[in-house]
Amino acid sequence: MSNQRTHRVAVIPGDGIGPEVTSAALDVVAAAGVTFETKSFDLGAARYLRDGFVLDDATLEELRGFDAILLGAVGPAIGDTRIPGGVLERGLLLRLRFGLDLYVNYRPFHGVDGSIAQGCSFAIVRENTEGPYVGEGGVLRRGTAQEVATQGSVNTRFGVERCVRYAFERALALPAPKVTLVHKTNVLTFAGDLWSRVVNEVGAEFPSVVVDYHHVDAACIYLVETPERYGIIVTDNLFGDILSDLAGAVTGGIGYAASANLNPARTGASLFEPVHGAAHDIAGTGRANPLAAVSSTVLMLEHLGEDGAARRIATAVADFDGDVAALGTAGITKNLSERL
Ligand code: IPM
Ligand code: MN
Repeated sequence: MSNQRTHRVAVIPGDGIGPEVTSAALDVVAAAGVTFETKSFDLGAARYLRDGFVLDDATLEELRGFDAILLGAVGPAIGDTRIPGGVLERGLLLRLRFGLDLYVNYRPFHGVDGSIAQGCSFAIVRENTEGPYVGEGGVLRRGTAQEVATQGSVNTRFGVERCVRYAFERALALPAPKVTLVHKTNVLTFAGDLWSRVVNEVGAEFPSVVVDYHHVDAACIYLVETPERYGIIVTDNLFGDILSDLAGAVTGGIGYAASANLNPARTGASLFEPVHGAAHDIAGTGRANPLAAVSSTVLMLEHLGEDGAARRIATAVADFDGDVAALGTAGITKNLSERL
């Protein structure tokens, strides 16, 4: 049972179905007997369109002090061009990841019945503060025939090592501990060399963990054809972004995929969010699938030391065999809550 601690959780419901799935997930947490003291933050596309606010230093600092952050989804409806690309991605999501030093993006996948990867469980440990995401580079002579655009990938020994170490520690909990580095070492020889050496060096400290390597293009085939080969995939920020969508697709759709943006050193609040987007097309219809948000709270509860509640909710999700479309958000929430 819960150790009766009250956890202070910041909630960023966001846009579209974000508010519906976060509130469903919080209901399930309450049904599991864990007390969250929540404070809601109005951030995302709707907020930006209303008053131009994205995120400021004071809000970032306030968020840092919480025990955890739950985020629903942020972003405008597809086809709504009022927000230039990058405003929310860089200004809100990446600013939170970088500012709170959320250096691991942990995404576990479990192949649901009927999916390509049915019965397979594996996880992606994605470096979350470096790579091509840092914004290194720039544009010269924009709009001319001589335009130049560069976008570098930053890989530091420090950043790679702390991510790789997390992957190996995580692998220890697997029945068959295995870490697969996914990269493109045959072409990205500078970054690839650093990643390979770090994986081999850190791997030597974990003799019980099998170490493997796949090029990212081959990994895309293996994820579809033989997903059972994976335990933990460790990879850089951009490869991890792409592979997580593929992993979501082969395990049943990103309606199920949860993610934890983790600061394992705990110098800032970690952030938990479903991988899916705001799905404005079904917002307000009661049809949003809250399972990914609920699974994100499982990761949050593990991070908060609420292992019992985390296990109970994870089991309720794994055993869920209801009809998602027929039950809808409220029905799924009730179904899960009743089985805690
Ligand atoms: C994700 C998203 C983000 C990313 C975007 C919205 C910045 O695709 O969390 O996977 O690229 O990391
Ligand atoms: Mn993505």
